[in-house]
Formats: sequence, structure tokens, C-alpha cells
Amino acid sequence: MGLLFQLALFLYLVSPLSFVLSQDIEHGSVNVDGAQSIADTDENFICATIDWWPQDKCDYNNCPWGNTSIINLDLSQPLLAKAIQGLKPLRIRIGGSLQDQVLWDEINQFFNKTGAIVTFGLNALNGRHKTKHSTWVGDWDSTNAHDLINYTISKGYKIDSWEFGNELSGKGIGANVGPIQYGKDLIKLKQILNTLYHNHNFKPSLIAPGGFYDKDWFDKLLQVTGSGVVNALTHHIYNLGPGSDVNLDSKILDPDRLSKVESVFSNMSETIKKHGPWSNAWVGEAGGAYNSGGLGISDTFVNSFWYLDELGIASRYNTKVYCRQTLIGGNYGLLNTTTFSPNPDYYRQD
Ligand SMILES: *[C@@H]1O[C@H](CO)[C@@H](O)[C@H](O)[C@H]1NC(C)=O
Ligand SMILES: *[C@@H]1O[C@H](CO)[C@@H](O)[C@H](O)[C@H]1NC(C)=O
Ligand SMILES: *[C@@H]1O[C@H](CO)[C@@H](O)[C@H](O)[C@H]1NC(C)=O
Ligand SMILES: *[C@@H]1O[C@H](CO)[C@@H](O)[C@H](O)[C@H]1NC(C)=O
Ligand SMILES: *[C@@H]1O[C@H](CO)[C@@H](O)[C@H](O)[C@H]1NC(C)=O
Repeated sequence: MGLLFQLALFLYLVSPLSFVLSQDIEHGSVNVDGAQSIADTDENFICATIDWWPQDKCDYNNCPWGNTSIINLDLSQPLLAKAIQGLKPLRIRIGGSLQDQVLWDEINQFFNKTGAIVTFGLNALNGRHKTKHSTWVGDWDSTNAHDLINYTISKGYKIDSWEFGNELSGKGIGANVGPIQYGKDLIKLKQILNTLYHNHNFKPSLIAPGGFYDKDWFDKLLQVTGSGVVNALTHHIYNLGPGSDVNLDSKILDPDRLSKVESVFSNMSETIKKHGPWSNAWVGEAGGAYNSGGLGISDTFVNSFWYLDELGIASRYNTKVYCRQTLIGGNYGLLNTTTFSPNPDYYRQD
């Protein structure tokens, strides 16, 4: 168990009682029944994301990404390597698609050195074309993905899981693809993985769709792909609304509001039980507040009440992995964008 997870568990258990509003102090006790487990997470539950946002990605006149994109991140920063090593093994999820081979080599060497467990997102829009209402149709062109995976294998780089697509499920964010087409393409990608990793002991997982949960869409995807194709269903959660909300901190401290997200987790576990018991649920990306998080809120201590509460809810519903948006970048990074040192105080490790 990583330190962060132990701390997370500890804070999750004590937070409702120890949080002090105004001057009132209430004492209480918590009994934990350690004999019975109600759900299982993966051994490596804690995960953080690295995004592709460039320096000029701004929300509400605030441009919080700096040099934290996987494209311009300074991998020689000792604090960055230290942070990842300190949480070893930390899962890292990288979303998007990559073309620059030199960069790809450096990134892989860096992750190998820091002992990170890597999920890499493949572009699922390649080869399709857009129709009305942001819907993309046509077969996926697998050429780039095939070459990238083959290159990765030839270099001996270890990828824990390949993720197909980013926020294309349901109505999508900016673009969407229907579940029947998506499922067909996942079957194709699974065949590519099976062929390319044919002589290998370690076979990476295929995970998808890295988008927001939509019952009909997710149910259909599992029905179309069938047994054993998708190893984990990844979904994204931003249950605090926009980062610009002036009441963001009170939302974070409202237990009823935080608990509303349970219906997503319980429906997701039903989807898997009914249509794909060979698969698991992962939160592939969760940052609390969307549009880069809330400045002075998502990067401070108060945000840990949202984070720890959701880690708890996720694990109760058998979520195997939970990826926090972000490791670094935006206003919700675990690490400070300019100094690379831990943001909220409780991560600090001497
Ligand atoms: C990002 O890196 C470039 C090149 O090293 C540097 O010139 C620039 O000042 C950096 N920007 C920020 C916001 O740190
Ligand atoms: C790093 O690379 C070495 C050599 O290819 C490999 O044996 C090891 O498993 C890799 N470590 C990780 C964490 O991927
Ligand atoms: C895969 O990569 C190897 C080694 O770089 C290369 O020789 C081979 O042609 C590639 N195979 C395919 C099917 O692209
Ligand atoms: C969960 O399922 C219930 C019952 O089908 C439905 O009413 C509710 O809207 C669903 N919630 C989510 C977030 O999918
Ligand atoms: C990150 O570090 C810079 C430079 O020390 C500091 O000005 C800024 O307030 C820090 N951000 C947070 C969220 O602590």
C-alpha cells in the first residue's frame, strides 16, 4: 500500500469528525470492522494523470498549465522523479496520441526509471469523419496505433494498459462515436494486441472508453465487444461543476452533495455485473471541478475532502483504479506547476 493511499484511508475515516467548522470542536470515535471486506480494489489503486494541455490553455482568464503537458514537461526535474518514486508504484495515465518518437523514448525511460505503471491513451477518432451533432462515423484507422504499439514492443517498453479513446461515449465532449462502431473497433484493437504481444509473457490490458458514464452506451459497448475484449471500463468524473464556481469550497464540504455521485458508481457496477463480468470499473480521470479546477481551491487542502471521499466511494463499488486529474498541471495538480513540489500540505514528505 502506498503512503498516499494509507493517508487517504486514514483521512477518509477521520475527516467527518475532525473537520472543524468555526470554533466548535466535536469529539467522536469511529469503529472500523477490519474483519470483513466489502469490495476489492486493485493492488495499485492510486493513479494520477498527465495531460496534453499546452501553456495557452486558459479558463476564466487563468492559464494554469505552464510546462506540464506530456509534450513539454521537464523530465529532468529531480522533484518530479522523486514524487513519482515516493508513491511507487504510482499508476500514470496519459491521454491523447503521440507522434514524436524521440519524445516517446524519453518518456518511457523516465517512467521506467521512476517505476511508474503506465496507461497510454490511443486516438480513437483516426480515420473517421464528422457528421452533424459532433457524431463521428466510419471505421477507425488503426495504422498509427499499430505502428506505435509495435515500436513500443520493439524497444522493450512496458505499457500496463492501452486505452482506446477519450470522452467519446454517450453525447461525448466535443465529439462522440456510437457504441456499435466503437465496439467493432475495440475488437480490431484487441486482435492487434493479441498479434503483436503474441510471444510475450506480459499482455497489457485493453481499457475503454475513457468517457462519461451513460448507461445505454456502456451496456451496448459490452454487448457488442463480448467476452474478454475490454478488460476495464474507464469512466471520467467531474462532479463538482465548473472550477469558476465561487461556492466550490462549500460544495466540497457538503457530504450530501458529494454522495450524489454514488448513482454513477452503482449503475456502473450493474452494467458490469449484467453485461461484462469479465471486465472491471476504473475511474480513468477525475479532477472534481472541470475546466482545469478551481484556483486556490482544487490545489489546496480543502480539496482533499472531495478527493478522499470519492476514493472511498469508488472503492466501495469495486472500482479497481482511480486516476486523479492531475499529477501535475491545471489548478488540481498533486504537484505545484512551477516548483514540482507537493501542493496540498498533507502530501509533504521530508
Ligand atoms: C516553459 O519552458 C520554456 C522553455 O524551457 C520557457 O521558456 C518558459 O518560460 C516556460 N514557461 C513556464 C510558464 O514555465
Ligand atoms: C524497466 O525496463 C526493464 C528492462 O526492459 C524491465 O525489466 C522493467 O520491468 C521495467 N520496469 C518498469 C517499471 O516498467
Ligand atoms: C514491427 O517492428 C519491427 C521492429 O522494429 C519491424 O521489423 C517490423 O517490420 C514491424 N512490424 C510491423 C507489422 O509493422
Ligand atoms: C442510474 O440508473 C437509474 C435507474 O436506471 C437511473 O434512474 C439513473 O438516472 C442512473 N444514473 C446514472 C448517473 O446513470
Ligand atoms: C506554486 O509555487 C509557486 C512558486 O513558489 C507559488 O507562487 C504558488 O502559490 C504555488 N501554488 C500553490 C497552489 O501552492
